[in-house]
Amino acid sequence: MKVNSFNPVAKAYSQTVAPYRFSQFLTLVHELRLKGSEKVLDIGNGPGELSMQIVQRLNAGGFLYGIDLSPKMIQLARETASKSGYSNTHFRLGDALNMEFEDNTFDIVVSSNAFPWVPNRNRFLQEVLRVLKPGGRFGLVALSNKCYKEFAEAFKKITKENPGLFPNGKPFELMGAKLHSLLELKKLVSKNGFMIDKYFQLSTEEPIKADEYLRRVNAIVNENYLDYLGNNGHRQKIRNQVLQALQNKNGNLKITESSVFILAQKSKVN
Ligand SMILES: C[S@@+](CC[C@H](N)C(=O)[O-])C[C@H]1O[C@@H](n2cnc3c(N)ncnc32)[C@H](O)[C@@H]1O
Repeated sequence: MKVNSFNPVAKAYSQTVAPYRFSQFLTLVHELRLKGSEKVLDIGNGPGELSMQIVQRLNAGGFLYGIDLSPKMIQLARETASKSGYSNTHFRLGDALNMEFEDNTFDIVVSSNAFPWVPNRNRFLQEVLRVLKPGGRFGLVALSNKCYKEFAEAFKKITKENPGLFPNGKPFELMGAKLHSLLELKKLVSKNGFMIDKYFQLSTEEPIKADEYLRRVNAIVNENYLDYLGNNGHRQKIRNQVLQALQNKNGNLKITESSVFILAQKSKVN
């Protein structure tokens, strides 16, 4: 299995990004209206914060599985679960595109912000459908195409100053992530055989300093957007330009976290 790009940033992600996503996790958990006895799968669990929000609402009959491509993320999630004293969790290395679970296993599948990074989104959704029981529910959270729009704007600016530097000025897409709009994602989920119960977008804006902004972005992408520049002085120059482009907003820089939520169901008839 290929160790994905989140492995080197697992710790930084858990400290710098995940804490800012709590409103997303709580929103998803609220929408799930758990009874407590469900068998739940969290795909791309990362450091495990969403998983913890779910497992603390489960009773002895419930169980939470998490899979992630990154061994470090799995380790962090296991540590968090054991520190919190939750034994009805099981985190293991696994690929969303090829899951080692039987058909019709889970009452609920959730996935928060892993979806943009998987190379084959139809296959991901087909795998979710396969492992869900008939009538099982799916809660998907995915970074929207409005997320970190300030960062994308900074990229546009420096692409103008350095023509051809970043092919389409879209930093996340340069690294293979695909950020969807709400309607695009709803259409994709529905096309893959799910019945849609609810869909909405949640955006939060907060003030932040430019270097903290870059720190947070880099905890997701590890500066991979600069990789094809090599490791020379040019890379450092472009990094500074990104920082400057972010700073040019009179110190009033805002960070926009924005995610799409889709609540869907597998048909009751298999
Ligand atoms: C942005 S992090 C999100 C982590 C966590 N769910 C959260 O919302 O904070 C994306 C996670 O998805 C995992 N991931 C990416 N592609 C995956 C795949 N094909 N199968 C399983 N996990 C994957 C990464 O390793 C990473 O931990």
